[in-house]
Amino acid sequence: MSKFVINGGKILSGEVNISGAKNSALKLIAASILADKKITLSNVPIIEDVNTMVKVLRILGAKVSLDEKNGKILIDPSSIDSFEAPYELVRKMRASILVAGPLLSKFGSVKVAIPGGCNIGSRQIDLHLKGFEFMGTKNSLEHGYVHAKATAKKLKGAVIDLDFPSRGATENIMMAACLAKGKTVINNAAREPEIADLSNFLVSMGADIQGAGTDCIIINGVKKLSGTNYKIMPDSIEAGTFITAAALCGKEVKVNGAVSKNLDLFLLKLKEIGINIDIIDNNTIIIKENGAFNPVHISTLPYPGFPTDLQPIIAVLLSIISGVSIITENVFENRFMYVDELNRMGANIKIDGHHAIITGVGKLSGAPVSACDLRAGAAMVLAGLAAEGITEVLGIHHIQRGYENFDKKLSLLGADIKKE
Ligand code: EPZ
Repeated sequence: MSKFVINGGKILSGEVNISGAKNSALKLIAASILADKKITLSNVPIIEDVNTMVKVLRILGAKVSLDEKNGKILIDPSSIDSFEAPYELVRKMRASILVAGPLLSKFGSVKVAIPGGCNIGSRQIDLHLKGFEFMGTKNSLEHGYVHAKATAKKLKGAVIDLDFPSRGATENIMMAACLAKGKTVINNAAREPEIADLSNFLVSMGADIQGAGTDCIIINGVKKLSGTNYKIMPDSIEAGTFITAAALCGKEVKVNGAVSKNLDLFLLKLKEIGINIDIIDNNTIIIKENGAFNPVHISTLPYPGFPTDLQPIIAVLLSIISGVSIITENVFENRFMYVDELNRMGANIKIDGHHAIITGVGKLSGAPVSACDLRAGAAMVLAGLAAEGITEVLGIHHIQRGYENFDKKLSLLGADIKKE
């Protein structure tokens, strides 16, 4: 099993370019099923999860070519002849469930493995299934698969009130509504920037969607969707990861492609901590060497709240700030798995239910640690950059799922990190 070996304490400086957003790219690849003609996606991050989603589309019968050198994908969905997403791929990547909405909208049928839980929580799909039922499917669960079938020729538009602003449910229902008969309204919709990116992509194919990015999205079904060329938005979570790395051990680091308006609350919290941040334009953020830091309280919430995906990342920064910081995790039920690993590096964090009470320590010390999941793994790397001595991060396949050339980008900033 490969690992990262990090010799901590190096000062980071220079520029880093942010890649395309994983949590938009995966949905746009799935949404391509809806098109009648070829789709070209650019600014595609070359990461493991994109390879998995490409495999899912190929299993459905689509022709997909991935140009890794130029970060482009060409998808021809016209040859799709299967509507089943197999367990071995859904188990590997929960986002595979997002082929359900497009397959139902275009073909009226889908059989998809129920994604198991993962390290951060149970990851239910009840809101997805309830939305499909409102649009006229009959859902049956058997042998670990959900089989959803439209009872009429086409799905029908419906008013759907989400109990929770689930991103996946919002995305799946929005895609299901594109070719449905009539109007669909999604109330209490998720508002993440990636939802707007998916809507812009669908509209560029001829979909009729208003309100993406707000909590009420209206979709009027159309007869068909054509091909398009589309550039994927930058990855806010990757940007937040590098901004935090710079805050931890940077002299002056320029992060290019970090759309600051997508990171509002995160950047406000960093300023409250005392991090010296310049926002040059909407896309460039400079972090300069800092003075004293202050402890803070952070609560994760659906967008525009503090992003849960940056919770493990900011915890590393808070772990070396004197005083007591508190993180409350409101989105997932089990997203503190990384704390035991961080405490092995000398951090002093106590978990009390949904709260992490972080008492800052002067320094972290390098140690062999494990990546429990994608963002926890990135947090371990950042801890290694800031720690004294050598840190080995095992299980880096988790990190490679969602960060493009993570170690290379950090090395270019001056980190001493090697993959073994
Ligand atoms: C997306 O997951 C992201 N993944 C996650 O990023 C991110 O952490 C999460 O949104 C929250 O922002 C992708 O976009 C591929 P949800 P998703 O549906 O869509 C519960 C990363 O690191 N829920 O908003 O699965 C669910 O159990 C990953 O890049 C239901 O109860 O998130 C969870 O507690 C990790 N029933 C909460 O809602 C449902 O039907 C948030 O889920 C759906 C969700």
